[in-house]
Parts: sequence; C-alpha cells; structure tokens
Amino acid sequence: MHMHKFEKAWLIFGVGSLLVFLTIIGVSAFYLGNQPPSCLATVDPEKVDTQAPFDKPGLNKVEGKEWDYELVYVAAAFAYNPVQVEVPLGAKVKVIATTKDVVHGFEVAGTNINMMLEPGYVSEYVTTFDKPGEFLVVCNEYCGVGHHMMNSKIEVVK
Ligand code: CUA
Repeated sequence: MHMHKFEKAWLIFGVGSLLVFLTIIGVSAFYLGNQPPSCLATVDPEKVDTQAPFDKPGLNKVEGKEWDYELVYVAAAFAYNPVQVEVPLGAKVKVIATTKDVVHGFEVAGTNINMMLEPGYVSEYVTTFDKPGEFLVVCNEYCGVGHHMMNSKIEVVK
C-alpha cells in the first residue's frame, strides 16, 4: 500500500503523542499516586449533626494517626461550620467535610485544597499548612441565592 510521506509522518506523530500521554497518565497514577478519592465514606445527610466527627466541627487534635489534627467542616446553605479556625503552622491536618443539604464546594484559596461536598458523602483531604497567614475558604459550586456569601476562614498561626 502506498502512503504519502506526510501521511506517514502525521501517523507516527499521532501514535507517538498518544503513547507519550498514556505514559504520563500511567506514571502519574501508578508511580506518583495521583488518583481520585475513593468516596467510600458516607453519612446520612439528615443526621450529620449527631454523627462523629461532624458533631464536633472545628480543629480536633488526634493521637496515633498519620496526621496531628482533624479539621471538621459541616456545610449548609449558605455557611460553613466553623466560620473561623486557627491552625498551628506546620500541622499535618486531615480536612473532613460534608454537606447537610445541596452540593457545595470547598476551596481554600491559595492552596491546592479543592473538594466537592456532596450530600451523603464525606470528602477528605490530608495536607500540611506550612505557610502562615489567613486563608479564605470559598464555595465554588453554585448552591443558591447565598452562594457568593458562603465562606469561612483558616488562620495559620505560629
Ligand atoms: Cu455553597 Cu455555593
């Protein structure tokens, strides 16, 4: 079969770039461990307030875990509980959050913490707060008329 040399070149380029991208995805997923969260943790959205850890929103010190603190948030239209929290600089923290009503976002501006909060599911993220200062928590999923007012504050202090 005769193939034009340009056609051959593009075919090689196309297949080559496909292989490059698949290799990047493979290394990222299986070597660097960049995988989506499992979403296995569930909670009854109507009983959030009475169930651990959501019965104690805020920063809680924990022992014998890979992280030093658990930072628990309950989101509901149009606020987060707690509204403000202080985190010691350098603390390894597991952020645990859920919502009581509709889908909300949980983005900590200026960091790579960005989760979707879905009713019935628990969103978790382990991070180290190694920059001092004030960080704004914002909702980045449109959730209703008060969406733009939905925020919270994390103060990282020495
Ligand atoms: Cu909550 Cu937008």
